Amino acid sequence: MRARVLITALSLIGAAVTATVTPAQEAMALPDGLALTPPMGFNNWNATGCAIDETLIRATADIFVSTGLREAGYEYVNIDDCWAEQERDPETGRYVPHRERFPSGIEALADYVHARGLKLGIYTSAGTLTCARTMPGSLDHEEVDAQTFADWGVDYLKYDNCNNEGRPALERYTKMRDALKKTGRPIVYSICEWGQNRPWEWGADVGHLWRTTGDINDSWTSMMSLLEQNAPLAPNAGPGHWNDPDMLEVGNGGMTDREYRSHFSLWATMAAPLLIGTDLRDATPETLEILGNREVIAVDQDPLGVQGRLLRKDNGRWVMVKPLQDGDIALTLFNSSETTATFGATAAELGLPNRTAYTVRDLWEHKTYENAGNFSAAVPAHGTVMYRVDAEDRGWWRHPPATEFALDLPAPFTGVPGTVTPAGRPFTANVTVVNRGRTPVLNGRVKLAPAAGWRVEPLGNTGKPLLRTGESLTAAFRVTPPATAPPDGYALDATLSYASLLHPRLNRTAGEDLAVPTPAPAGTSNLGDLAWAKAANGLGPVERNTSVGSAPTGDGRTLTINGRTYDKGLGTHAEASVLFYLAGKCSGLTVDVGIDDERDPRPDPTQGTAIFEIWADGTKVADSGLRTWQDDALTLSANLTGASFVRIVTNGSPDGFRWDRGDWAAPVLACA
Ligand code: GLA
Repeated sequence: MRARVLITALSLIGAAVTATVTPAQEAMALPDGLALTPPMGFNNWNATGCAIDETLIRATADIFVSTGLREAGYEYVNIDDCWAEQERDPETGRYVPHRERFPSGIEALADYVHARGLKLGIYTSAGTLTCARTMPGSLDHEEVDAQTFADWGVDYLKYDNCNNEGRPALERYTKMRDALKKTGRPIVYSICEWGQNRPWEWGADVGHLWRTTGDINDSWTSMMSLLEQNAPLAPNAGPGHWNDPDMLEVGNGGMTDREYRSHFSLWATMAAPLLIGTDLRDATPETLEILGNREVIAVDQDPLGVQGRLLRKDNGRWVMVKPLQDGDIALTLFNSSETTATFGATAAELGLPNRTAYTVRDLWEHKTYENAGNFSAAVPAHGTVMYRVDAEDRGWWRHPPATEFALDLPAPFTGVPGTVTPAGRPFTANVTVVNRGRTPVLNGRVKLAPAAGWRVEPLGNTGKPLLRTGESLTAAFRVTPPATAPPDGYALDATLSYASLLHPRLNRTAGEDLAVPTPAPAGTSNLGDLAWAKAANGLGPVERNTSVGSAPTGDGRTLTINGRTYDKGLGTHAEASVLFYLAGKCSGLTVDVGIDDERDPRPDPTQGTAIFEIWADGTKVADSGLRTWQDDALTLSANLTGASFVRIVTNGSPDGFRWDRGDWAAPVLACA
């Protein structure tokens, strides 16, 4: 059966294989008992790129031990590109570890890592050179390289796809599989051909995991795009053969902690490999808490090995379901929209038997509740709630009733979140509680705690003595930041206190991070020099007065649109949105827009297209239409009279996001 699948796949992608599979080859085929759960560990690429050295690998192994990450399941410490010298050893033809960055050699490093109960991974490409082109690839050197890795004590190989000379993927990846097998050492084999040849259709016989997508970068847009591509491939994953939507960005700074929690939750739901991609030497407690969440890790690592599937998705409300070995169900509620949303799934939709109540564990709150069968939650913008639902627990009644608890700040305009709260300007905060338990919620009372000096006035009732199953309490508050509040971030916390029949004192909290924005100065100024209220970008951060460059901060070049250079402006990458606060005092914005010349030099007309828009509050006031990399800059002028906010938007176009580096050049804002 496996052999037939392999041959079908070979002929599908045009590999030069005509003979039938011999018994010897059949013995090479996977599965082989490795990677029965998705691999967990570390890979340096997202944190350091080529700037890797043996100190980082040793430090990571030590931190795995000292922080408990090893006990949480992280096992592989993996080295990515740039670890070897450019030339092979002239006598043996073997790789030579980079003399400055890996002076002790890989074998010594493997010993170090093994001594700590961990495993070592390495990287190369199924091509003549690796992707960074700083070292040779393994194409046509498969046997010597696999043997070298085995001799060194390597336990994991990531095998990339760069510089492959156009040779068929299946042939190249199978050759390395066989070379690894021949060494006799168990080595987890990670196929990294970016999903180009539909590896989910043939990968199970070749490797233990396969990338389904291009590279991740540390942005919301990138994470979302990989999620969209990987989620539908659920049927192709299972023990020993996993879809790999690329490594984690948790902790790298381009997303909020809430977004990183979503990234981690979604990867776990999709039974993705959990490879930490941040430098743990600088990790914050929040980062360690996310990566170390054992209840979420248990969902990823569940031995049943089913990749969670998407039950439904509408208006950015994602409901994903992952069956677990003990009969529980992991339910992931992810909100990709810009405002708090309340949604979930019923026991019937999850295929659960009809029960009086279910025991539900909240995997981020680390609390257990009883639920009458409607597993919903108020999920903040870009946030995720994960439940583990148990239909068989007769002792459900011991737990407090589950509640939906929402703190919602209505968005004043499309694209302007309610969390941006100008000084002195009152706004409304709505707090909602719904009893989702079978037992009653007693003496429910909500409170709002803003920063010191901020005014809070309840606009009605803030409590109810009794909420039966499905009943709700809504409280509205008027919140006013002081007129003198300096531009900064401020916390707003809502608390629910209640009781149940068995629990006299219960509470829940929900919080939002508010931003008091800096108003644009009087006179004319350049957007490249102003503080923004909020920015989102498709690749790395929005850059000031340079092009966007790549993912790192401050790596752009001179803003250049079709040969014309500018010394002021903003470098963005689709999908981008940058919001400025005008306080109603500005009259207009004039700006040159276009695709930056910073792009792949190869002539490919589908690369580098975007649509530029200017929004004044909720109204679109300028639109560039489709601009391509061949176009000169286009001047846009927008009337902003009376607007509180201006928002510049770089939209992708139907050809995807590659090289969509949108420049907002010489953006002159006129204010009174
Ligand atoms: C490719 C891979 C990445 C990383 C780099 C290294 O882009 O997809 O994951 O390994 O190469 O150069």
